[in-house]
Amino acid sequence: MNQVYNVASVEETWAVARQFAAELKPGDIVCLEGDLGAGKTTFTQGLAASLGAKRAVTSPTFCLVVEHPVEKFLLVHMDLYRLHDADDVLAIGWEDYLARNAVLFVEWPDRAGDLIPSTARHVVFTLGDTPDSRTITFR
Ligand SMILES: Nc1ncnc2c1ncn2[C@@H]1O[C@H](COP(=O)(O)OP(=O)(O)OP(=O)(O)O)[C@@H](O)[C@H]1O
Ligand SMILES: [Mg+2]
Repeated sequence: MNQVYNVASVEETWAVARQFAAELKPGDIVCLEGDLGAGKTTFTQGLAASLGAKRAVTSPTFCLVVEHPVEKFLLVHMDLYRLHDADDVLAIGWEDYLARNAVLFVEWPDRAGDLIPSTARHVVFTLGDTPDSRTITFR
């Protein structure tokens, strides 16, 4: 069943992220869906911080992959926006991260095509009626 959260601020998005972080286990793949600016990166940064990751110096907006080693696993945040297909995704080390049992957070997962397993979690971000409101749906 879908879980739906209506949030009114970045802080509320981080609170939802912190709750979700507690459910994660090594090998999980989480697809982050939604338009440009919907909050996928903001959610992931809050989630990483809640797990004790040091503040990332690089953003996946400018870098395709950011690794956040946290206590329980390696958290990997990918932004595939500028990639075209599964071959491009393989070229950035997809299989290596799977072999390392990393937790993968993937923005623009459609670029990865069939590489995304049917067991992946999906988190969908949509804009609300005020500038800081969002709906976050877990599938
Ligand atoms: N409730 C909220 N949750 C998340 N972000 C919010 C919220 N309210 C305002 N924002 C702002 O919206 C923007 C979300 O940008 P973010 O980079 O997280 O989006 P994105 O979905 O990763 O986009 P892209 O596809 O371009 O990578 C940020 O500037 C953030 O401060
Ligand atoms: Mg982003």
